[in-house]
Amino acid sequence: MADNYLGRKMEEYEAQKCASVRTRKVSLMSLLAKNRSVRGYDHSFTVRYDQLVSLVEAARLAPSARNQQALRFRLVTAEEAHLVAPHIRLGAALPELNLPFEGNEPQAFVVICATKEGRFVDIDLGIAAQTILLRAVEMGLNGVCIAAFDKEEISRGLHLALTPQLIIAIGRSAEHIEVVDIAEGENQTYYRQGDTHFVPKLRTEELIIK
Ligand SMILES: Cc1cc2nc3c(=O)[nH]c(=O)nc-3n(C[C@H](O)[C@H](O)[C@H](O)COP(=O)(O)O)c2cc1C
Repeated sequence: MADNYLGRKMEEYEAQKCASVRTRKVSLMSLLAKNRSVRGYDHSFTVRYDQLVSLVEAARLAPSARNQQALRFRLVTAEEAHLVAPHIRLGAALPELNLPFEGNEPQAFVVICATKEGRFVDIDLGIAAQTILLRAVEMGLNGVCIAAFDKEEISRGLHLALTPQLIIAIGRSAEHIEVVDIAEGENQTYYRQGDTHFVPKLRTEELIIK
């Protein structure tokens, strides 16, 4: 009787271990797969302020060189979107499309500023940006990093005392995006065919230095 009990418990424990390992693995890779740069958003969904706060909560837990924590975040919801949207550039590789399409403009943003400058701040910036994007995907949203924006106009409109370094648009995706495997030397520029946006990515084996 006691032997049976222990045997059953051990089986349950092993099954749980396998299930949790499987779930974790699938979960991170699926978030990464869904984490594509979206340049067209569904206006029937409005991003709330507390959802943007939740993105900063995630960024707060990201690593920071020397733990300097120099990044600050200005949260912009639909009421203030007009102060940001006209001053960003999306899809520079597809100038003929004039992205975003009318009616699909991003309406929520995280404007990342920094209290100081330097290489380590830039590295922190990248880590924070990806953390924010992954948290957004986990919440059923998407985003895109935007480095091409008018710093002066954004600073003036939002009354920023700190220089904006990077903007992340956030919203519910209205786009269909697919990753395409490519080899070294093939064209890396993203492109569109019909309604699908294709993102060429070098195969894993191309990335590993032999
Ligand atoms: C630091 C950084 C800056 C970016 N700036 C812009 C930008 O200004 N405008 C834009 O449309 N996309 C911008 N992107 C998005 C890239 O074009 C996108 O990551 C790339 O095409 C690969 O697509 P994926 O993110 O779906 O993998 C930026 C991405 C990064 C990481």
